[in-house]
Amino acid sequence: MRLPRLLVAAATLTALGACSGGGGGVDGTPGGSGVRDPYFPKAGNGGYDVGHYDLVLDYDPDAEHVTGTATITARATQDLSAFNLDLKGLDVEKVTVEGRAARFHRAGQELTVRPPDELDKGRRFRVRVRYSGEPGTVTDPDGSEEGWLPTDDGAVGLGEPVGSMAWFPGNHHPSDKASYDLTVTVPDDYGAVSNGQLTSRTTKGGRTTFHWHTAEPMASYVATVAVGDWRISRSVTEDGLPVYTAVDPEQEDASRTVLAQLPEIVKWERDLFGPYPFSSTGVIVDRPGDAGYALETQNRPYFPGAPDTETLVHELAHQWYGDSVTPKTWRDMWLNEGFATYAQWLWTEDHGGDTAQETFDALYDGTYFDDEESDEALWAFPPGKPPGAAHVSDSPVYRRGAMVLHRIRQTVGDDAFRALLRDWAAAHRHGNADTGDFTAFVEKSAPDEDFTEIWDDWLYGDGKPKRP
Ligand code: TRP
Ligand code: ZN
Repeated sequence: MRLPRLLVAAATLTALGACSGGGGGVDGTPGGSGVRDPYFPKAGNGGYDVGHYDLVLDYDPDAEHVTGTATITARATQDLSAFNLDLKGLDVEKVTVEGRAARFHRAGQELTVRPPDELDKGRRFRVRVRYSGEPGTVTDPDGSEEGWLPTDDGAVGLGEPVGSMAWFPGNHHPSDKASYDLTVTVPDDYGAVSNGQLTSRTTKGGRTTFHWHTAEPMASYVATVAVGDWRISRSVTEDGLPVYTAVDPEQEDASRTVLAQLPEIVKWERDLFGPYPFSSTGVIVDRPGDAGYALETQNRPYFPGAPDTETLVHELAHQWYGDSVTPKTWRDMWLNEGFATYAQWLWTEDHGGDTAQETFDALYDGTYFDDEESDEALWAFPPGKPPGAAHVSDSPVYRRGAMVLHRIRQTVGDDAFRALLRDWAAAHRHGNADTGDFTAFVEKSAPDEDFTEIWDDWLYGDGKPKRP
């Protein structure tokens, strides 16, 4: 369930054999070991497209041990003699393709699977991986930690940008979105919260099994499961959207006021961004320090400690910009963070605080920050071109990204800008888009305006652009 991939390694398309026959032929080649992401070249894999993940996990929080079976339904996008999955750490016990044992090989984060028979282009197939072990933590080039994070009272799986390979095998690149079923079993004094909808919960022999279903396409970096002691609250918004929140008991008091605003924030964002893209909403609030950042996990953003209102606005805005409209590569990160940051500015503007223009001016004039260092960091690089993987979540991606959006608003006017926010979310709903798609979209929506300076100086240009 995804757009055509544009990045499949071209090298893998060269056929080895001369035989041109169909099933069981010898003309297939291995799928690529990455999708040539400019920042994370090993992320994802070529040669197939995942439609569905069915993950069955058994987690023991004391031993920090997982036993898992991942059944992945995919379609071959080339004749395949072998293909890769991304999986970091853990022991692989068995791999089958279409129910038959398959040979496999591991090297770093690449799990190479050789099916007993080649898979013809277009063929749907099921690969099942049985695995176990202690899922690990992944440290990013910028030093932040994700993957599987043990918490004070359990653990949480967080995936941005490449952490999900620490807890399940898959095509771990945002360009390949899929639906999910997650069945997770934990001791019965724990709860397990994930994306989508809780469709069943059964306790037997001291263990509870939670089944979560995510029907809408999801990028693996926003998949999550949070194990712990949770205070659950369920409700429905005025217009019928189910809300499921899970809060660490220690954070309940601190969360009450801000979470009471959730329905109002979602309504405000729907009015602005268009229909809510998923079939439920909510949050997961863990303890401060359980992770180093909040994350826009699909349906249910994750917060280490009670968020403030703006952070909640930010992560909920990502449901449209990031989770529904997902970047094609990690270079397009500003399409996530610039939009989610601009949502904060707009919220503040609409609720009696600074206007977005005032926020923009304060950033431009250097009065937004108290320190020079933060001001310098803002102009260190353009949002459309971070200088390496260690910088994809730096300040320019967020704030200068939002400044790009504000420059567009100044150019087209408020009404056209609001239409553009909605139309962009609608045009790529449940899909993927990159920066080129965005600039083309903006130009098409306002054919009489000239955006050259915005793209050249604000989006892609080095240094501080001249005052608009
Ligand atoms: N996307 C998160 C947010 O809401 C921040 C974040 C967490 C992040 N991990 C990341 C950004 C890794 C980039 C890369 O702002
Ligand atoms: Zn964000």
